Amino acid sequence: MRFPENFIQEVVDRTDIEELIGRYVELKRSGANLLGRCPFHSEKTPSFSVSPGKKMFFCFGCHAGGSVITFVQKAENLDFPDAVEYLATRAGLPLPKENDGENRGGVSRKRVLEMNLEAAKFFRACLFDGNLGRDAMHYFCEERKLSVATVKHFGLGFAPNSWNSLTDHMHRLGYSDEELIAAYLCGKSQKTGRAYDLFRNRVMFPIIDPSGNVVAFGGRVMDDSKPKYLNTSDTPAFKKSRHLFALNFAKNCCAEKMILCEGYMDVIALHEAGFEYAVATLGTAITPDHARIFSKYTQKVVISYDADEAGQNAASKAMRILGEVGMDVRVLKLNGAKDPDEYIKKFGADRFRRTLEESKTGFDYKAERIFSKYDLSVGSDKIKASNEICALIAEYWSPVEREVYLSQASARLELPVDVLKNTVEQARKKQSRAAAQQRSREAQASVKKYGDQVNTEAARDPRATTAEETVLGLLLLREEYRHAVEKREIELSTDDFVTEFNRRVFAAIMRMHGSEHGLREELLGEEFSPDEMGRIQRMEIARQQLTENGPPVFRSAVQVLRDIREQKSVKESSLSDRIEYLRKKRKST
Ligand code: UTP
Ligand code: MN
Repeated sequence: MRFPENFIQEVVDRTDIEELIGRYVELKRSGANLLGRCPFHSEKTPSFSVSPGKKMFFCFGCHAGGSVITFVQKAENLDFPDAVEYLATRAGLPLPKENDGENRGGVSRKRVLEMNLEAAKFFRACLFDGNLGRDAMHYFCEERKLSVATVKHFGLGFAPNSWNSLTDHMHRLGYSDEELIAAYLCGKSQKTGRAYDLFRNRVMFPIIDPSGNVVAFGGRVMDDSKPKYLNTSDTPAFKKSRHLFALNFAKNCCAEKMILCEGYMDVIALHEAGFEYAVATLGTAITPDHARIFSKYTQKVVISYDADEAGQNAASKAMRILGEVGMDVRVLKLNGAKDPDEYIKKFGADRFRRTLEESKTGFDYKAERIFSKYDLSVGSDKIKASNEICALIAEYWSPVEREVYLSQASARLELPVDVLKNTVEQARKKQSRAAAQQRSREAQASVKKYGDQVNTEAARDPRATTAEETVLGLLLLREEYRHAVEKREIELSTDDFVTEFNRRVFAAIMRMHGSEHGLREELLGEEFSPDEMGRIQRMEIARQQLTENGPPVFRSAVQVLRDIREQKSVKESSLSDRIEYLRKKRKST
């Protein structure tokens, strides 16, 4: 479905970019622009810039950029029409009539959310059906010791042991096979191509986002069969790296801290015991996207993973990822139980609360793991331990923190602070060298391996690519250049472009320039992906300083392209033409 261009324009006009992006990022004024920490990559110092005047954004770190529509596409994981619809709804603009029908190729996010809600109601009804749901209810209330109130609170359900009960129910409500499959509620039969129930004989955990939408499901078997959990894969309404289980509840009481667990059952047990600020990732390790969600809601996260080796290793990783967005991270090591669920059942809520209060800071936790490996009364062990501790302290960026940890370590190791401090400084030098090498290795490797992801031909002819980007950046910035090209005061056509991507950008700019409304950058988003929009922004922003010297720079970049084109055509032409060319060239000089 395509929206009319004037409608898209209206949507953009009615959107306050500062207010929109301000919901995701804390923005501070910096000259004509606003500056904040980029929501699309982890960073400590702000490099994300918003121009309220142009209604565009750009990150100098990860090069994400574009219009308010691009922003919503990236932040909410929507395609272009859905992002326009999202902003229209937000601005209170009714959608144009043509869009009311169901003529869109894919299945919309809205439709998936509707289906999920119906499915959640269906699963709940099955659980509360005295006959159908008897075993499942027994599982929740007897085996897992949940109260009926908790079962209701979380909207838990049961998917019957059948290949078609949900499918039939949803058909009756008017949903097609295709839609059910897109929502990941149904699988598609290899033989008949028809939909069948994906979740069978499983207790169901709906995943509800902070706005109250049912975005996905987790379904657990009631015995030891495999797989233990089946989870919704990514759909138009869901990306698992961007959601947390029970955030819909936790968001209301997380001002002080949140607890991060591994499992659905851990979270439910904690909420039941009064810790309603517990959440879990959805069967994945924590991602930087998750870390940014946490940083939006709270300042402190207590990680409470399973007590086994795997859980503790995962906790170390989670600590690093959460630390990167500036969170105060603590870790809980529960003794005498395999996970928080079992701990609460065994020792009660009060004891859990006490361990929570004693939860260790990241440093203490990591230091404890190092010390526990060694016998500090043995000289060689003591040396190893102090080297590891110093390497750990060296990772801290703040001198105050380093000072605090140094004195702790010195007391524990019974070694003078100064000695340890030297080792830490050496380790810091080594680490920053290693980090710099690592960065340059990664940069080189990624260029070698993937090249330029947006403009895949860039590496083949860097000179031409730079000239093209200069030309395009200036064309985007100033109408006068577009005029000059249009009026043929400057000779430039699509044939002058070497790389396919830049040729497409040029064609789109000039096409839009020639249209009634002129160039509107936000409309480019219909034709170009968010990554491509970022590149287009980058070309433009990089040339912003050129306003004074613009005309000569523009002309010479165009000249570079014309030269390259001529050289190429000479190479390709026959020998006689070539002689002719050389003769002409000699004459003209
Ligand atoms: P656990 O195996 O610890 O499950 O996996 P649990 O939720 O604590 O359940 P109980 O207490 O054993 O009944 C932790 C999380 O990992 C994901 C789920 O999100 C689960 O909650 N997981 C686990 C899967 O996605 N698939 C699996 O097969 C297993
Ligand atoms: Mn568990």
